[in-house]
Amino acid sequence: MLMKNSKLKVGRNDPCPCGSGLKYKRCCLGKQTQGSENLKDLYLQKYKIRLKGKKDIEGIRRAGRLVLETLDLVEEKITPGTSTDDINTLVHEFTVTNHATPAPLNYRGFPKSVCVSVNEVICHGIPGKRILNEGDIVNLDVTSVLKGYYADASKTFFVGTSGPDAQKIVKVARQCLEVGMTQVRPGRTIGDIGWAIQRLAEGQGCSVVREFVGHGVGFEFHEAPQIPHYGRKGAGIGLVPGMVFTIEPMINLGERDLRILEDKWTAVTADGSLSAQFEQTVLVTEDGFESLTPFD
Ligand code: MF3
Ligand code: CO
Ligand code: CO
Repeated sequence: MLMKNSKLKVGRNDPCPCGSGLKYKRCCLGKQTQGSENLKDLYLQKYKIRLKGKKDIEGIRRAGRLVLETLDLVEEKITPGTSTDDINTLVHEFTVTNHATPAPLNYRGFPKSVCVSVNEVICHGIPGKRILNEGDIVNLDVTSVLKGYYADASKTFFVGTSGPDAQKIVKVARQCLEVGMTQVRPGRTIGDIGWAIQRLAEGQGCSVVREFVGHGVGFEFHEAPQIPHYGRKGAGIGLVPGMVFTIEPMINLGERDLRILEDKWTAVTADGSLSAQFEQTVLVTEDGFESLTPFD
């Protein structure tokens, strides 16, 4: 496996992964060899991106484990007749029992501990009286704060047995997250992630929501940078080790346009078509990525 990393190396004359447009040797190469502190300062000053160190990564990984346990716990309760508020109660209690805080609760006025988004709801569904019906799809978006560290992940589940449209949009959304994650490595850019996702979604006749994006995460709920799920290959900020961000494509079966309901949170597809989403928190490593919320 000696050659494994060789093709991933950034050449002296290649464009700098930081996205400056300069050659690597004229930009970050020198700074990087003087120690990673310089890259950390550079990314903070230039982009307000806080690169994470070893201790931070371990903290986010721990929070991520709790998020996954929460999703697994709730998955078992997703059956026809369950209300979205029942799900909120489960998530809230499990989170606090595990010495963590549900990040959504009171975040910019969000009234509940988890986002629960059914069928045509794209994201930010507020748990309430809505009852899950056979054939629905439902996204649970869980963000936990454990010892000050945030991890954010979401999955879309079937309620009982779902029809072909539901099967299709859930499959495409899942593949979109995967193809986005496989772009993540030093030398690639934020634009590469969105480009790969958009190509897959639109190639399947689906559309990518543009108003909501992935985001840096770890020290806070939403940090720099923003991670659009559409874009141009090679565009945007270069990925460097220590970046932690979410990829969370929201994919619609119909058009990409959305509407926000009276509650000021719930985003729904304008055409009423189904929407699905998967999200993970990923770390850029020396030679690729590691998911800090690894579900398959
Ligand atoms: N978890 C969502 C995200 O992936 C954000 C939800 S904000 C809330 O970024 F207030 F609705 F919880
Ligand atoms: Co989320
Ligand atoms: Co997120």
